[in-house]
Amino acid sequence: ALQPVILAGGAGTRLWPLSRADHPKLFLRLDGAQSPFQATVRRLEGLDAAPPIVVCNAAHRFLVAEQLEAIGVTAAAVLLEPEGRNTAPAVALAALHARADGVDPVLLALPADHRMDHPAGFRAAVPAAGRAAAEGGLVTFGVPPTRPEPGFGYIRPGLDEGGAVRSVAEFREKPDPATAAALVEAGGWYWNSGIFAFRASAYLVELDRHAPAVARACRAAMAGSRADFGFLRPEEGAFRDGPTASVDRALMERTDRARMIPLEGPWSAGWGDIGSWEALTGLNQPDGADNVATGDTRLRDCRGSRVHAESRLVAAIGIEGLVVAETADAVLVAPRARAEEAAAIVAGLRAEG
Ligand code: GDD
Ligand code: MG
Repeated sequence: ALQPVILAGGAGTRLWPLSRADHPKLFLRLDGAQSPFQATVRRLEGLDAAPPIVVCNAAHRFLVAEQLEAIGVTAAAVLLEPEGRNTAPAVALAALHARADGVDPVLLALPADHRMDHPAGFRAAVPAAGRAAAEGGLVTFGVPPTRPEPGFGYIRPGLDEGGAVRSVAEFREKPDPATAAALVEAGGWYWNSGIFAFRASAYLVELDRHAPAVARACRAAMAGSRADFGFLRPEEGAFRDGPTASVDRALMERTDRARMIPLEGPWSAGWGDIGSWEALTGLNQPDGADNVATGDTRLRDCRGSRVHAESRLVAAIGIEGLVVAETADAVLVAPRARAEEAAAIVAGLRAEG
């Protein structure tokens, strides 16, 4: 059986003030029914998969526990980070935990910030990824790009086999906007979905090779880990000593074991990262004037706007192309194209203390 690893540690600051340090986007019940984190776990239903390992920030442990319980899932383990060091260490903790009993499962690492309208198509592709991973590959799912998106990784497959599993000729994480546009224009490139499959041992071998300081810090942290009720706490000092690194930059750009499963058709059409306002509001159908309003709102003569009310009534008249996001203690107003600069506001707030 596959060993799922749910990456649930990102801060989601681009979505401030909806996404907050103590309640990040992953755990928001955006469409009322379930949070992106819960949706990610449930996407595994029907796969030959073990209960998931969840890696999250220690501050969110009760949110994770409560949201798992609400969907009737018992995690294999919940690993707590004292602070986010990006995805490479997060996956390393899970890989080391999975190796602890001497077994070497294929891990299926899943970001918890994705939307997926056609999970059946994804599930159908998982067994091929599992087989390629069992043979030693670092496997990702590739999605045909539909727009220049500098926030993603880009993959150029090799000229080899074709078919279900491709080799990876080139992997470029988060190119600048002009390069992203050029790659999409050139054709033949795929987006990296950020969903990976690899054996725990293969991940650790490549990490030792390409990011040894990350591997060292995580080994020390897991060697000093302690159980805390239902949670597992890697040793904080050792973990903090390690560098920040993403799986994409630390491994996928460097390894020669990368493989890609191309996902075409409806699966990829309904896939997206909900890390931005545009992606988030894309979950809802706009009205006839291209507005998306959520919560208690009244719109009059508005166009192309995103209005979100959380704790009181929000009324808007005659606005165009704006984001208005209201929460109990903060309100954001910005042109839609600049809403992601909220991350800079958050950084400023942090600096103020
Ligand atoms: N536990 C833990 N700890 N999880 C983390 C951490 C961390 O320090 N940092 C990020 N995550 C989680 C996020 O919550 C998210 O679910 C996932 O790991 C991916 O991190 P993001 O920060 O959202 O990455 P990204 O969206 O910028 O880029 C990645 O995903 C793209 C597709 O959505 C890359 O893999 C890109 O190449 C890819 O195109
Ligand atoms: Mg993301």
